[in-house]
Amino acid sequence: MEGGILSRETERSRSAQPLMLCPNWDRDSWISWPEYVEKVASYICSLLELTSDSRILDLGCGRGRITSTIARQLNVATPVEGIDPASIIAHAVDSAQVSFKQIDALTYLSVVDASSYDAIIFKQTYHCISSDERPALLEHVFRCLKPSGTCLIMIMPYELTCPMFRRAEEVFFEEQLSIDSIIVEASRAGLGTAVHQFSYPVSISKRNYLSLIESRFMSHLRLLSDRELREGLAELDRFLKSDTVMFEDRLECLICRKLA
Ligand SMILES: C[S@@+](CC[C@H](N)C(=O)[O-])C[C@H]1O[C@@H](n2cnc3c(N)ncnc32)[C@H](O)[C@@H]1O
Repeated sequence: MEGGILSRETERSRSAQPLMLCPNWDRDSWISWPEYVEKVASYICSLLELTSDSRILDLGCGRGRITSTIARQLNVATPVEGIDPASIIAHAVDSAQVSFKQIDALTYLSVVDASSYDAIIFKQTYHCISSDERPALLEHVFRCLKPSGTCLIMIMPYELTCPMFRRAEEVFFEEQLSIDSIIVEASRAGLGTAVHQFSYPVSISKRNYLSLIESRFMSHLRLLSDRELREGLAELDRFLKSDTVMFEDRLECLICRKLA
């Protein structure tokens, strides 16, 4: 059966997982490096002009490293709220300045009082929300923001900034949301937008980089069959000539504010 349609489909369904069950994305990648976490947290604080008095909600906070770093950097008076439906929330950082809950964004926001937050953050989470849920979710974002509040949606740009093999590039472009489509969704919910960019220079050993890909650390890699992944790793191994892989990891940052 190796290589036949049946084995290909069987492999694909075995490895395909719902987005929220993609547990390896920050385990050993630069996203978990203390320097990255500090840098992205301070970028968010300054972009959103957050202060110790800000009430902040981090939707899809994962292990909560960035959530708790924002709380510490600001020395918040009210704990930052971090929510995530995945069980990794059980391992979220222990900090009195953060309150974590295991729940999905729409269920949580639908019971939150109006005008509760100065900032609502989706860092690399928005693409996990189904297109059916996004309109209702953005309406709740609008409702739950204070009049001067800000929502920040951070997503990967519609281009791969890290080296990838051909099949992985194809599935990335099949699935990746463009910032323009989110701008349309936000404006339908009454939110005005502005785009910024966060950039982080990554330098990682080739061995570690390939093992990250093998662990399907980026969510679109879950769409590949085991065979496609194996072949792609061999392709990338041939392509990457140096022992160190270097690139700029970029995120598009969409600031959304209530239109007057
Ligand atoms: C790529 S991770 C980003 C985690 C974190 N924001 C960070 O940047 O460190 C995406 C997260 O979104 C969460 N997620 C998936 N579906 C969600 C939903 N419907 N509501 C809230 N979070 C969700 C996943 O469980 C996962 O932890």
